[in-house]
This record gives sequence, C-alpha cells and structure tokens, in this order.
Amino acid sequence: MRITVIGTGYLGAVHAACMAEIGHDVLGIDTNSQRISALAEGRVPFFEPQLGELLARGLNSGKLRFGGSLADAAAFGQVHFICVGTPQLPESLAADTSGIEAVIDGLAPHLTRNCLVAGKSTVPVGTAARMAIRLAELAPVGRGAELAWNPEFLREGYAVQDTLCSDRLVAGVTSAAADELLRSVYAPLLEAGIPFISTDLSTAELVKVSANAFLATKISFINAMADLCEAAGADVVTLARAMGYDDRIGSRGLSAGLGFGGGCLPKDLRALVARGTDLGVGDSLHFLQEIDTLNMARRTRTVELISGIVGGSVQGHNVAVLGAAFKPHTDDIRDSPALDVAVRLHRQGAHVRVHDPEAAENARKVFPELDYAHAIYAACENADIVLHLTDWPQYQEIDPAALRSAVRQPRLLDARNALSLDRWRADGWTAWGLGIRMADPDTGTQVTVPATA
Ligand code: UGA
Repeated sequence: MRITVIGTGYLGAVHAACMAEIGHDVLGIDTNSQRISALAEGRVPFFEPQLGELLARGLNSGKLRFGGSLADAAAFGQVHFICVGTPQLPESLAADTSGIEAVIDGLAPHLTRNCLVAGKSTVPVGTAARMAIRLAELAPVGRGAELAWNPEFLREGYAVQDTLCSDRLVAGVTSAAADELLRSVYAPLLEAGIPFISTDLSTAELVKVSANAFLATKISFINAMADLCEAAGADVVTLARAMGYDDRIGSRGLSAGLGFGGGCLPKDLRALVARGTDLGVGDSLHFLQEIDTLNMARRTRTVELISGIVGGSVQGHNVAVLGAAFKPHTDDIRDSPALDVAVRLHRQGAHVRVHDPEAAENARKVFPELDYAHAIYAACENADIVLHLTDWPQYQEIDPAALRSAVRQPRLLDARNALSLDRWRADGWTAWGLGIRMADPDTGTQVTVPATA
C-alpha cells in the first residue's frame, strides 16, 4: 500500500521505517528540511536503537523515501499518517493542536481521490471529530477523504520494538471501510496476534491519554511511598518489588526515584486535566493535578537533599551529574528531571559537570551554562558529590573503588535507585537513594536521609 507519514520526529521517523519494513511503499515528509535530508541519506537525526538498520533497509529497497510537499503526499498516498507534535501551550495546561490543523489545512485541498487520513499524534478528545469535518469541507473529494485516529504507544528507546510488536493497535474510525483499510495496513502485525481494537474517534483519542495518565499515576504513587519509606525507615525498592508480584499491580513502571519527564507523560497529564475541565469533569480529574505536583516535588526534594548532604548549601561545591536525558536509551532532553536538577543546582552556585552517553550535545544547546564531560571519570573529577540522575545501564558498570580516587568527597546520591548502594558503600562511599533506608556509615545504625536545608 502507498502510505505517507507527515511529521518525521521520534514518532514519525519510526513509523515510516516500520511501515516500509512490513512491506508498504512509504513517503515521509516534514517541514524540517534538515531532518528530511538526514533521513533521506540514511542518517537518524536522533538516538533511537534499531532505527538506523530499518532506515537503511527501507531506503535500499526503495520502499522508503523522504522529502516533498503536502501536495506530493496527497498525490502519493492512499493512507496518510499524521505524526506531528502537540506540545503544551505556553502559559496553559492544554495541548497545542495547531500543528495538526496546519497539516489538515495544507493537505486537504490536494485530496482529489478517496483516501484515509489517520492521526497518530496525542490529542485532546474531540480534536479528531473537529478535524474530520474540516477535512471533508476542504478536500475536493469531500467525504471521500476520511479521518481516523490511530494513537501510538511507543516508548522512546524501544520505539521500533514497540511499533512492530505493540501490545495493541487502537483505531478510532467512522466507517467499516476505514476499519478495513487500517487492518490491511497492519495486516502482518495482526497475523502475529497483536490485538486490534476498533472504536469511535473519541475513545481512540482517550485510550492514549488515559494510558499515559495511568502510567504517570503509578510512578507518582510509588514516589509518594518513597517519601513514606524515608520517614518510616523502610525501603521503597523492596516494597515495589514485593508489590509488583501481584499481577494486578505489576512491577513495570513502579521504580521510585526522581520522577517522570519527557515529551509525553507530563504534557499529556496536564492536557487531560485541561480538557476534562473544559468538558465539566474537572473535579473527577483533579487528582491528576496532584500526580503532577507530586512529580515536580521530586525534583525540589532532590535538590534540597543534595544541599543537606553537602552541608546546607551547594554554593561553590563541585557536583557531578550522571545523566541528562529524561530517561535512558534516548537523547531526548525534553522536560528532563535530570537536567532540571542540574540547572537548579547551577543556579544555586554549584559547579555542575554533566555526563550523558547520548544526550550531552542536546543538553549543551539548551543549557550552555553547564559544564559537560565526555567521560564519566572526567565528569566526576574533584566532585564533592556524584548524582546518578538518569539510569543508563553503563552507570551500573562504574567501579566505585576506581572512581573514588577521582572525586574530592566519595558521596553518591542515586536518584534512580538503580545502583547497588551496598557495593558503593563497601568501596568507601557514603551513598544515598530516594526512599531507601540508610545505615550510618560509622555506627551501622539505621538513619534516614539528611534533613533538608
Ligand atoms: C511514554 C509511554 O510510556 C508510552 O507508552 C507512550 O507511547 C509515550 O509516552 C508517548 O506518549 O508517546 P516515554 O515518554 O518514551 O513513553 O517514556 P516512559 O518509558 O514511559 O518514561 C517516562 C518517564 O517516567 C521517564 O522520565 C522515566 O524515567 C520515568 N519513569 C518510568 C519512572 O520514574 N519510573 C518508572 O518506573 C518508569
């Protein structure tokens, strides 16, 4: 089938390459010409494991192409996937859907034969119905240009795997023909047993935001328990592990730490609250605001904890920050908790040096005021405290005994609860986690984390 993908960011580039991988003829377009040139030359313009191989295969087979206008897309495709961003509006909780509107307005006048326009972007409920009317009004083919909503559930870092082996496919459609067409697009995935849920436009839109809000709630829940564990002298890592054995709860997404960030969970949570309030059910969704507040408080709490550890103020202290991406396996720094903490410490007078295996260059562009190091040891040289803020697997390979000789003070805060504190302590470090029972390094007696500054 001839498919177009409009918008080739983290979502669209992966979707385009995966559609070519399952046998479609795909054209990807974007207003960002640099991104399109890179993709057309087989270069992935961001870090996403496995995407490079898929891209090369698609380009070499001739099934995948990049470049052109919305008019070219209209002439090429039978199904058009919209994959443009819907960021949070400035000074509002709501999502900015102007990118979607621009695509519909630009594409529709060129649609002269029957086709399906399938939105994949995350949108406030009601957007698809609005876009369907706009599409039919503006397209020369009229109602022959149909709209569907087909949200994606991929995680950055696992985007290829999540697309080709997704947990489920969800299609919001208004006709049997649209349902059929989407089923044939995804035929190889359906044959592999992936469930296909066909529903109305509003439910499809809501599945996506509800899922993200639920994931966010799960993370804030365990982080609230982390606070309780600290206060009670308990251990949140063991607590989460024990809770996770209950299938109804599950252990995934139950890691306590610095909280969630990225381009999706925070803004989707806020947009859901905003849309619910518009629809008159703000009271029912009020708890989601608490989830957001709890999440943001993790960052403040972590900064206070660091000040407490170094003696009350970070002013003049050397702080090594391990991790800048909002999570491992990506170079995405959007709403990164790690960078937020790094910048707050810098603003309080600390000398902050950041290491990240993939995201340092993106971080440097946005926060040139921080220092960056290519190597972990260089980041930690003369540090008064080492902060583990993004749980990249390579940080688990650090030899604490060797790193000890590089730092000024062997102090570690593992804000992702992913390192073995016992090992670090055995190698002479004083090490803290978030929500983890501490033992006094001298007396071995149980202590809680240092009082806030
Ligand atoms: C999220 C969802 O997981 C995807 O299903 C969804 O498709 C995507 O948003 C989207 O809307 O496009 P993603 O933003 O890539 O995916 O990241 P997650 O893996 O969900 O992690 C989000 C944040 O939560 C990260 O900052 C991570 O460090 C944090 N997190 C995650 C925790 O603090 N604890 C956990 O147990 C899990």
